Amino acid sequence: MGLRPVPVDDWLEPASPDELAAKVADLDAHPDAVAWLPGSEAAQSELAGVLGASPATIEGCARAVVDDLCLLDGETLVLVAGAVAHPNRWRLADKLGAPLLGVHGPVPGYPGRLAGQVERVLRSLTPGRAVERRSWALLDDPTLHQPVPTAGVPASFDPAGLWLRVERQALRRLPVTGAVVFAIRTRQWRLDELAAHPGQAGGLAASLRSTPDDLAGYKGVAVIRPALLAWLDRVAAGVS
Ligand code: HEM
Repeated sequence: MGLRPVPVDDWLEPASPDELAAKVADLDAHPDAVAWLPGSEAAQSELAGVLGASPATIEGCARAVVDDLCLLDGETLVLVAGAVAHPNRWRLADKLGAPLLGVHGPVPGYPGRLAGQVERVLRSLTPGRAVERRSWALLDDPTLHQPVPTAGVPASFDPAGLWLRVERQALRRLPVTGAVVFAIRTRQWRLDELAAHPGQAGGLAASLRSTPDDLAGYKGVAVIRPALLAWLDRVAAGVS
């Protein structure tokens, strides 16, 4: 699962004013990036208190920090509110009201390989702790707002025509309502920029090697995997 503890007071990474402005512009351009269910108002308001955001709604929260935000509630971790300007090939409207297992419906192997562990960790998350993980995607399109599930799948390998999206995901529990906050900070680089970072290329190669075939297919990298791995290995070895 790749979860690491982070200090709860530093659970979100700092962002520049330009990054925040770009994210707010994406929220303005996509009103359906924000949605919530009746009954989630108290959790939205509690999150706003944590973030110092106003108004005390999920939208107010989303305009205060660069991270995309989701609120999950109850034993089955139902997605009750979200503000997601930079979805990686999913739509908030398709997921709102679903438990975490349902949210991951299209992810191959999730019920067997991950669901049990993820739910155990999230149920045991206390308000004094926070955790983070990273996940990556490769798209042939640098647009950060990607709601279409099949968008951006590369047909061929070209490091100058692919963008590596890395999501830094952070989770914490709110003390009063008990809702879990899932914050997603998306950064991206054109893949050829990795040529200057052999260590990161090696890390991505290792992650790609350990990605099961069905998950690689879902992530849209099955076709380019051999060429991508060969390139990453050359970069990691300093011979690109
Ligand atoms: C903390 C443990 C979690 C793990 C290990 C996990 C794992 C995964 C994996 C493996 C994928 C497939 C894409 C990829 O490889 O990056 C995925 C997709 C996704 N995850 Fe999670 N996830 C976690 C938590 C969450 C939470 C708390 C949410 C709350 C909303 C969430 C929402 C999603 C969504 C919306 C997708 C895209 C699904 C789609 O394509 O329809 N994940 N997750």
